[in-house]
Amino acid sequence: MIELRDVYKTFERKGVSHEALRGVNLKAEKGDIFGVIGFSGAGKSTLIRLINHLEKPTRGHVFVDGEPLDRYGVKQLREARKRIGMIFQHFNLLETRTVFDNVAIPLVLLKKSKKEIRERVTELLEFTGLSDKARNYPKELSGGQKQRVGIARALASNPSILLCDEATSALDPQTTRSILDLLKRINEQYGITMLVVTHEMSVIQQICNKVAVMENGEIVEQGNVLDVFGDPRHPTTQNFVRTVIHNEVPGSVLQTLNAEPESRLFKLKFVGPSASEPIIDGLIRRHDLKVNILFANMTEIQKTTLGHMIIQLDGAAPVIDRAAEYLAGQGVQIEEVKSL
Ligand SMILES: Nc1ncnc2c1ncn2[C@@H]1O[C@H](COP(=O)(O)OP(=O)(O)O)[C@@H](O)[C@H]1O
Ligand SMILES: [Mg+2]
Repeated sequence: MIELRDVYKTFERKGVSHEALRGVNLKAEKGDIFGVIGFSGAGKSTLIRLINHLEKPTRGHVFVDGEPLDRYGVKQLREARKRIGMIFQHFNLLETRTVFDNVAIPLVLLKKSKKEIRERVTELLEFTGLSDKARNYPKELSGGQKQRVGIARALASNPSILLCDEATSALDPQTTRSILDLLKRINEQYGITMLVVTHEMSVIQQICNKVAVMENGEIVEQGNVLDVFGDPRHPTTQNFVRTVIHNEVPGSVLQTLNAEPESRLFKLKFVGPSASEPIIDGLIRRHDLKVNILFANMTEIQKTTLGHMIIQLDGAAPVIDRAAEYLAGQGVQIEEVKSL
């Protein structure tokens, strides 16, 4: 569990103060993969450093597993930090140590026996698919393999939470996917709560169940991923959602749009079961009108299908009204658009 209550963080530099976080509230429950998305400079890394207690909040409180870290002394903090794993964009591996030794670092610091270390590291290398790389050095690995080492190291001390700061931002899309799959597997298998910071909405879409959108040190919107993706309110959220869900009519289609005087345009949104029902078929069969599908798109989020469609209905006004009612009755969210 991670909770921030009304957290402020102000940096002072050469007499100029900068508010990196301004009144942040968030709560990640046990087992959540909580995503924080924002542009560069939004305050994401500062947020992570506060949770890890590398920085103290200027105001407000930070709790990890119910413990008020901001009130802890050095010794208590050291104990608490053992339960927090962290992975980084640039992996932060020791270049002069082998893969095995990099993963062993937290265990050596915890003064575990040689036998315990050997067993745990072997198990972690197997879990992350690195068994055959144990004796290699970081420079002999690909980016994806380096991040797997970073993940294995973060898991070594059996943390209850894992903080990921742009963990896939230095990786290509295919490697990103395999690392995200690994994070998801860790979450499911070990029940580890994760806070995933990113500037890529596709990362949120693939693994997170909750999301907070940050801008200029503030959270401008947060909620369940499906709700936020399905109905983004803040313009910044809408921009991020647009990077993964396209619901605009392509320009080439707009040009061919026949301006029938009787026709009207509707945006449809299908969530969950309605996305797989033959609703358009019912629309055509039951109503005396022409249906022109201008655009359709389906996205899977949290194992739920989210569909967007833009249709042009051509027919008598009362028939179109009844058709719109029919769609709404089928659980489709429908909105008439005057122009595209
Ligand atoms: N130690 C620091 N001293 C002064 N300013 C800082 C410090 N750390 C971060 N900042 C400022 O706080 C803001 C947020 O930074 P950061 O949390 O790194 O953003 P993000 O990770 O979202 O890119 C930036 O304007 C940055 O310059
Ligand atoms: Mg950052």
